Amino acid sequence: MPVNALSVKHLSVRYGNHEVIHGMTFSVPAGQIVAITGANGSGKSTLLKAILNIIPSTGEVTVFGKTKPNWDWETLSYVPQRIAIQPGVQSTVLEVVCSGALTAGRLFFPRKVKEIANSKLAEVEMEHRLHSPFNQLSGGQQQRVLIARSLMRSPELLLMDEPLSGIDLKSAQNLAQLVGNLKAQGKTVIMVLHELGALEKVLDRVIRIKDGQIIADKTQWKPGELDD
Ligand SMILES: Nc1ncnc2c1ncn2[C@@H]1O[C@H](COP(=O)(O)OP(=O)(O)OP(=O)(O)O)[C@@H](O)[C@H]1O
Ligand SMILES: [Mg+2]
Repeated sequence: MPVNALSVKHLSVRYGNHEVIHGMTFSVPAGQIVAITGANGSGKSTLLKAILNIIPSTGEVTVFGKTKPNWDWETLSYVPQRIAIQPGVQSTVLEVVCSGALTAGRLFFPRKVKEIANSKLAEVEMEHRLHSPFNQLSGGQQQRVLIARSLMRSPELLLMDEPLSGIDLKSAQNLAQLVGNLKAQGKTVIMVLHELGALEKVLDRVIRIKDGQIIADKTQWKPGELDD
């Protein structure tokens, strides 16, 4: 039986009295590249945050057979939709990317971390901005640096919330190639997307959600059929 990278059972999330995810159940086999699509406010970011335990939820979430929160956090990585950078903090691109190597159990940067950070930045074509202050980059450039950061621990399961937002066509094509490389390495990638765009060719499956429920789950589709 194929191993599931992710298994979600009866997942519900409420903000106060308002339930925004209604008992979702789905699983993602290891090695699959999945897009989650849906209109603004349909619950895509909430779903990712609930999977990651960033916000409370009910139901069960299992990553490579281990139930939340007792899983191996090093297997997972996340690129959020929006980032809150402290206005006074002037972290360089290198510092932001290196911080992706930190985990609760590993408080010191491993040796060679700068070398690894350099290679991850090269994968998103941002190595030339190594020493720039992160908050002086454009939105699309920041997004690419955060993708490099998420790759630092070579995760088995990567969750990305709208990685194409603010990204130009060339960078989107570059991201498609990067995801294609991850796929070739057997990694599992789940991405929230508004448009499948340049990533369409690397996708194995599209899950569409509406008002906190799955309304379509397809492994085959016509070009453009699933774009918002
Ligand atoms: N912190 C919060 N407190 C209360 N309600 C929230 C909170 N975050 C999100 N919501 C609500 O939950 C619903 C789902 O929001 P969510 O951010 O998950 O949508 P989304 O599908 O990611 O939308 P978008 O495409 O705009 O990113 C929306 O109705 C939103 O208003
Ligand atoms: Mg969102």
